[in-house]
Amino acid sequence: MTGDGITGVPGWKDLRNRVKQRVDRLPQGLQAHINRVTGIARELAPHHGLDPELAALGMQAHDVARAIPGPELLSLAESLNLTVDPVQLHVPLLLHGPVGAELLRREDGLDDDSLYQAVYWHTTGHPSLDQLGKLVFLADKLDPQKLPRYPYQPHLRELALNDLDAALVEFYTREMVSLVRQGQLVHPAMLEARNALLAAAVPGPIEPG
Ligand SMILES: [Fe+2]
Ligand SMILES: [Fe+2]
Repeated sequence: MTGDGITGVPGWKDLRNRVKQRVDRLPQGLQAHINRVTGIARELAPHHGLDPELAALGMQAHDVARAIPGPELLSLAESLNLTVDPVQLHVPLLLHGPVGAELLRREDGLDDDSLYQAVYWHTTGHPSLDQLGKLVFLADKLDPQKLPRYPYQPHLRELALNDLDAALVEFYTREMVSLVRQGQLVHPAMLEARNALLAAAVPGPIEPG
């Protein structure tokens, strides 16, 4: 449970050290990204009743498998008994979240489900994400270096400070439109996550047009 913040995560001190060891072995550019988004997550956390240290641990953990090449991610996912869906089969880099979460669970004692899910789904999003998972997802997209990719970042940042769900709907909508326009695959978890947020926000049945 992470209701108590970072102190609610079993073995959090050891886990934080193990995550740090992994991050220290990553390429410099990736370390710089991780450190930038850790700062952003620390800043967002108090706006949503989250422990900044827990948010920081989520960010330090989120990309531990990001430097693993696609083919290796696929074989690792298989050997870790992770489900690989058809979209991930086509875009193996999407597996860096699931593989990272599972490596941390098996090798570094990540027992906390909230943290596990946050790392697992940080690329596509998922309907089951809790506050921590939503914050980790959004802080990752708010890296200033990603501005060319997400030019609406300033607006997203404003939304993320006030309402994580509104920020997620904004991101999912823009990202799905962009992926579709570019002829790329859209992971079903992103569509499901957007549907779940919209359905929760709009009471009653929506009449089809
Ligand atoms: Fe990532
Ligand atoms: Fe990232």
